[in-house]
Amino acid sequence: MKKRILLLACLFPVFTATAQKSDIKSSVKDVEAKVDSVLNIMTLEEKVGQMVQYSGTWDLTGPATGDQNQFREEQLKKGLVGSMLNVLSVEATREAQKMVMENSRIKIPLMFGYDVIHGFKTIFPVPLGETASWDLEAMEETARISALEAAADGVNWTFAPMIDISRDARWGRIMEGAGEDPYLTSRVAEAKVRGYQGEDLSDPASIAATAKHFAGYGFAEAGRDYNTVHVGENELHNTILPPFKAAADAGVATFMNSFNDIDGTPSTGNRILQREILKGNWDWDGFIVSDWASIAEMRDHGYAEDLTHAAEIALKAGSDMDMEGGTYETGLVKLVEEGKLDEQLINDAVRRILRVKFKLGLFEDPYRYSNPEAINKIDKAAHREVARDVAKKSIVLLKNEKNLLPLSSSVKNIAVIGPLADDKNTPIGNWRAQGEANSAVSILEGVRNAAGKNVKITYEKGADLGMGERSFLKPLEINKTDKSGFKAAVEVAKKADLVILALGEDAFQSGEGRSQVNIGLAGVQKELMQEIFKVNKNVVLVLQNGRPLEISWAAENIPAIVVAWQLGTESGNAIADVLFGKYNPSGKLPVSFPRAVGQEPLYYNQKMTGRPTNPTDVTYSAYTDEEKTALYPFGYGLSYTIFKYGDLSLSSKEMTQQGSIKVTVPVTNAGSIAGKEVVQLYLRDLVASTTRPVKELKGFELVQLQPGETKQVTFEITNDLLEFYNAERKWTSEPGKFQVMVGGNSADLKVESFELK
Ligand code: NOJ
Repeated sequence: MKKRILLLACLFPVFTATAQKSDIKSSVKDVEAKVDSVLNIMTLEEKVGQMVQYSGTWDLTGPATGDQNQFREEQLKKGLVGSMLNVLSVEATREAQKMVMENSRIKIPLMFGYDVIHGFKTIFPVPLGETASWDLEAMEETARISALEAAADGVNWTFAPMIDISRDARWGRIMEGAGEDPYLTSRVAEAKVRGYQGEDLSDPASIAATAKHFAGYGFAEAGRDYNTVHVGENELHNTILPPFKAAADAGVATFMNSFNDIDGTPSTGNRILQREILKGNWDWDGFIVSDWASIAEMRDHGYAEDLTHAAEIALKAGSDMDMEGGTYETGLVKLVEEGKLDEQLINDAVRRILRVKFKLGLFEDPYRYSNPEAINKIDKAAHREVARDVAKKSIVLLKNEKNLLPLSSSVKNIAVIGPLADDKNTPIGNWRAQGEANSAVSILEGVRNAAGKNVKITYEKGADLGMGERSFLKPLEINKTDKSGFKAAVEVAKKADLVILALGEDAFQSGEGRSQVNIGLAGVQKELMQEIFKVNKNVVLVLQNGRPLEISWAAENIPAIVVAWQLGTESGNAIADVLFGKYNPSGKLPVSFPRAVGQEPLYYNQKMTGRPTNPTDVTYSAYTDEEKTALYPFGYGLSYTIFKYGDLSLSSKEMTQQGSIKVTVPVTNAGSIAGKEVVQLYLRDLVASTTRPVKELKGFELVQLQPGETKQVTFEITNDLLEFYNAERKWTSEPGKFQVMVGGNSADLKVESFELK
């Protein structure tokens, strides 16, 4: 992300007056009464002002809207702005807040939003990578730390977590979510909301979270960002909405709607999603912010005539705040005055916005996040430790032939090769907030730190991957031709006992707008790998990636493969922890890795179809030139030890909707070192009023086992795990036969059956 943050301190005159408390504060007791007390004294213009959000920089996370600083400053002073995004630092947020608090009529404090996606200054693994840890406590902790660091820099609202289910590796934003599974993503959503918002939003170390993008954004057709989404009601309710429901139930303060149109209606203008489902059926009382100009973009969708029309559609549909779109400030007052819009809709939106501001404690102290002291309380070293810990837990071991890993003490000469080997920028990933460019521990550094004096480390880059400027908005140029570094790389590979080959994706290959039709190793990387492999068979391929990659050749030939995503600040040390066996890998894939890009979208929880399989006849649902299964399935990941699963035992073969069944499985560490296994529970509804997936994750447990140790792992199957959105549009379970499956990944499971009576 471009670091040219324009501080408001530079844009606006400096105020010297001290913090001024709002006089509204002590007049009422509970939040609702307080909200009403404010609303009652607001003019229509002031109400609409609360629904406007401006960006403090002109080129950070969306198209520029022109130099309107003067106008915006005046709007702030008149109290006609509810929030700003991309304004950072104690000083800049204080200055902006002062504009409002010292000039406007009723002094409603601003909220300051920012994309704190996987860390603020300390950078943690990209969300897809972090989800591979399946460690919800760790994920909560990284959100907590991110909140602390952001809050100390003036931010009180993050646009995270992104909980769009994404099954298409071509979609660049797959890196930003928790993968393909609704159950896992729901649990991650809850953990993140708990982490960002803490126990209480009024704690100055808590910030408001955002469940985004509501809804369907991850289903962009052909994986092309912002593209049309075609999903039916069944898929919407059973796959896309559950994480959002989980976030709403966890008390997430805000939602963000999405750029895409879904079944013919832009999400931003979608009344059923926003008013009926979220605010109606789910009874959620926070506010919805639009995505960047997504209200105005309804013109481009061919859904609104002009900005005023777009404003009308969006508000009627339930969008409460306009991010950088200029529509609400242009259209809403006029629409009410012309009788085209009921002011009650505006009151509802403003009430929601004020509610969150009260909960954040902003009326008590508008400057509580602009406190220069807060920064001193940040324990950077402790945060780095957490970053290393979660990073090592996020690493997934895909292949380990000949037990090449962990590196044996007989390996005395290691060649570290590849464009990403000494790349200190890529591990910071996209959506890096205030994570500094080139600030991560590289693989080479991590290996050097861990190897000790007796091991010789040589390094050759071999080739570039990305070239030129790397920034949030600019396309990345890939090196497709320059192989001039191959020779030197091959030479060091020849002389080494073992090669650590660092390939994958540049930080700016995934993220917003980074969709790709190819998901293999970009540029000349595959050729480099093949040249190295010709001269040294002991290759450990370490991939850094923000999406599932197509790595069929490597899977067939390279003996050891490690998926190291983009792991953040401590990346190289965490990777070395795994390579040298200081940490026994325990990560499991939250997304399927395909055999070929043509399989995308690919996901484990698919439907059976009417023609599931038949190897001797082509008229079945398969490909004629490739297997239809994943190369590495959802939930997959190896350990340096071996986990064996015994047969399942069920407490009963029948249950009622009020009852439950306990399923128990013995899991044994059959290897010689301690390790952690993610034991996964899947269910299948065999016959129902709508077709159901072949299996669905419904539980998991992280189990630590010593060598030779066996633990009985028990899951309880309750009625809520059997429920789904059925043919009658009800969220319910249906009596009948079910399968229960438990194992270490979605493709290798012990199976039993039971009946719901
Ligand atoms: C657009 C992105 O889609 C959204 O996720 C982000 O929060 C906003 N820009 C603000 O940067």
